[in-house]
Amino acid sequence: MAASVSDLLLAWYDRHRRSLPWRAEPGAGPPDPYRVWLSEIMLQQTTVAAVKPYFAAFTDRWPSVTDLAAASEDDVMAAWAGLGYYSRARNLVKTARIVAARGGFPDSEEELRALPGLGAYSAAAIAAIAFGRRAVVVDANVERVVARLFAVEEMLPGARKAIRAHTDEITPVCRAGDFAQAMMDLGSSICTPRNPACLACPLAHPCRARATGDPARYPVKPAKKARPVRHGTAFWIERAGKVWLVKRPAKGVFAAMRALPCDGWSAREDGDGSAPLAGTWQDAGTVRHGFTHFHLELTVRRYSGDADPEGEGEWWPIDRLEEAGLPTLFSNAASLAAGPAS
Ligand code: ADE
Repeated sequence: MAASVSDLLLAWYDRHRRSLPWRAEPGAGPPDPYRVWLSEIMLQQTTVAAVKPYFAAFTDRWPSVTDLAAASEDDVMAAWAGLGYYSRARNLVKTARIVAARGGFPDSEEELRALPGLGAYSAAAIAAIAFGRRAVVVDANVERVVARLFAVEEMLPGARKAIRAHTDEITPVCRAGDFAQAMMDLGSSICTPRNPACLACPLAHPCRARATGDPARYPVKPAKKARPVRHGTAFWIERAGKVWLVKRPAKGVFAAMRALPCDGWSAREDGDGSAPLAGTWQDAGTVRHGFTHFHLELTVRRYSGDADPEGEGEWWPIDRLEEAGLPTLFSNAASLAAGPAS
C-alpha cells in the first residue's frame, strides 16, 4: 500500500492544497523555518482560522526569529492574549532567544525536540516541513486518517503505537513535509470526524475503513468522561475610568498574566466567593470557559464603594483594556462588568 498511498495523496495535494501564510507556494523553495516553527506552536490545540490573524500580527511585528528574541516577554504575552495555552508564548520567547544565539534553527528532529515547547509532533513537523527531513508526523488529523486507512480496531490511546507504525510505513522519503501537510489537509477537509466525504477522497480505494461501510467508527475511542464544572468569582473594581487589575501567581492557571482579582477558584476546587474589599457588590453575570480538565462558571461581581483595594495591582484605563493582554476568560468578564449597571 505504501507507495500508492503517498503517490495518490501527493498528487491530490498538488491540486487541492490549502494556501496558508506559513506555507511556501509550489516551486518557491523551502519555507522559512521561523514561520514554520511559529505556525506549528500557534497551531498546537488551536484551529487554523483562529491562528491566521495572530500569525499575521506576529510576523508583521517580529519578522524574524532575531526580532522575536529581542522582544520583551510582556509584549509577546500581550500579543498572544486570546490564543490560549499561554505557556506556549513563554516558551516561544525562550526558544527564539536560544535560536538567535546559536545563529538559526537546528534542522534535525532530535535537536528541535530539545527546544522549549517542542514535543514529538512539533519537532517532526518542523523537521519535515522546513528542512525536508523524512520524519513521521502524527497529529489528530493524521491519527484519524491513518486509523481509517488501516481500520485500526484497537482503542485510543493504546492504538497510538500502531497508528504511528502505520504512518511510518506510508511516509515517503521525498516530500515528507508535503506528505504530512497533505494528511492534515485531507483530515480537516475530507476525512472529517463525522460524515467523511469518501466520494471525494483520493485514498478511498485503499481505505479499509471505507470497505467496512462505517468509516466514522475509526479511530475507536473510549466513552468520554464528563468534565466537572467548577465555580468561581471575579471582581470588577472601577475608579475614575480605570479598573483594578492584578498579576496572577507565577505558577498555575494563566501564570503571571494580568487578570481581574478572583476568589481562589484556580487554587481550590471552587472559589469561596470571598471579595477583596468589604462593601456592596452587584452581580454582573456569569462567563463560562472550557479548560482541559474542567469547565469554569465564573460569576462577575462589580464593586460600588470607594474603599481602596489592598495588595499588589494596578489601575488600568478601561478604554485601553485590550492592551492589557487579558486572557479571553477575563476579557469576557470585563465586557460583562463594563456594560450598563443591572
Ligand atoms: N496543523 C498543524 N500544522 C499544520 C500545517 N502545517 N498545515 C495545516 N494544519 C496544520
